[in-house]
Amino acid sequence: MRGYCAGTLPQTPASSQACGKTPFTQPLACEFLPMPTYLSNTQLETYRRDGFLVLPEFASAEACLKIRAQGMALAASLVPPPEKATVFTADGGEGGHVADDYFLGSGGDIRCFFEKDAFDTAGQLRADAHLCLNKLGHALHDRDEHFAAFSRTPELAALATDIGFLDPRLLQSMYIFKQPRIGGEVSCHTDHTFLWTEPRSCVGFWFAIDDATTENGCMWALPGGHHLPVKVRSRLNAERTRAVMDVYDTEPYPTTGLVSLEAKRGTLVLLDGALPHLSGPNHSAEPRHAYTIHAIEGAARYLPDNWLQREVAELRGFAPV
Ligand code: FE2
Repeated sequence: MRGYCAGTLPQTPASSQACGKTPFTQPLACEFLPMPTYLSNTQLETYRRDGFLVLPEFASAEACLKIRAQGMALAASLVPPPEKATVFTADGGEGGHVADDYFLGSGGDIRCFFEKDAFDTAGQLRADAHLCLNKLGHALHDRDEHFAAFSRTPELAALATDIGFLDPRLLQSMYIFKQPRIGGEVSCHTDHTFLWTEPRSCVGFWFAIDDATTENGCMWALPGGHHLPVKVRSRLNAERTRAVMDVYDTEPYPTTGLVSLEAKRGTLVLLDGALPHLSGPNHSAEPRHAYTIHAIEGAARYLPDNWLQREVAELRGFAPV
């Protein structure tokens, strides 16, 4: 479904909180906070200042290649026939309702989403169907054993604790293909817009499975932009049949000051849920595969009209099982 990326929205300005056992991911200013165990103090300060942190070589090349092979295998086995694919990639019209159902039902499943530029003017796929996918989503971390193992490690658990989680819950995952030539851009957004909790707690864990460059559509982010109020919230309409946007601020995010987040395979990029970020199209001949997990704090209130609905109590954290 075009226009959806991860999920986003409420107006919780990132502000320092008092000390004590204050959960969640807003900057914490307290001399009694525990020392980080995975990150250095400097890395933690950088994350809190910028709203993102790039951690090269977090995952091994071997682990990335295993996940890559599994992503391709899932794509090949799960991709629907092209005649059905045109239904849920159609913009509006007859296919719109089916497309919305397909997307809104994907929160606890592994489903396939096509690139819109994968179709020619006659509506035919330009290549084999599984090579035309934009992404798989949105519960690979719970529905596939390979992705489940990649998503839960002692290092990830320690990292989550370092950045302020008390009880992280893995809510959403996506395998993003950013296919050569047709990989589409993702416009500037925040992930909290789509995965709204009160207080704000969403954090993205983005893994470069292939090298991400400015040529093949790497991410860009606005340093410190997580201190701005989130401008838009995506939520279900009253009939719960499609997602709609509540706009709190029509002023676009600044377009100057964005920095490119080029990343070698195995790099992990942490993204505060309120951080404006985007990625460009992939007009190169190189794929740009990535895997991303979005986690929320277990005690935060997960809004009942967020598009993705799962029982938070049943979601698990980063600790290996
Ligand atoms: Fe995002």
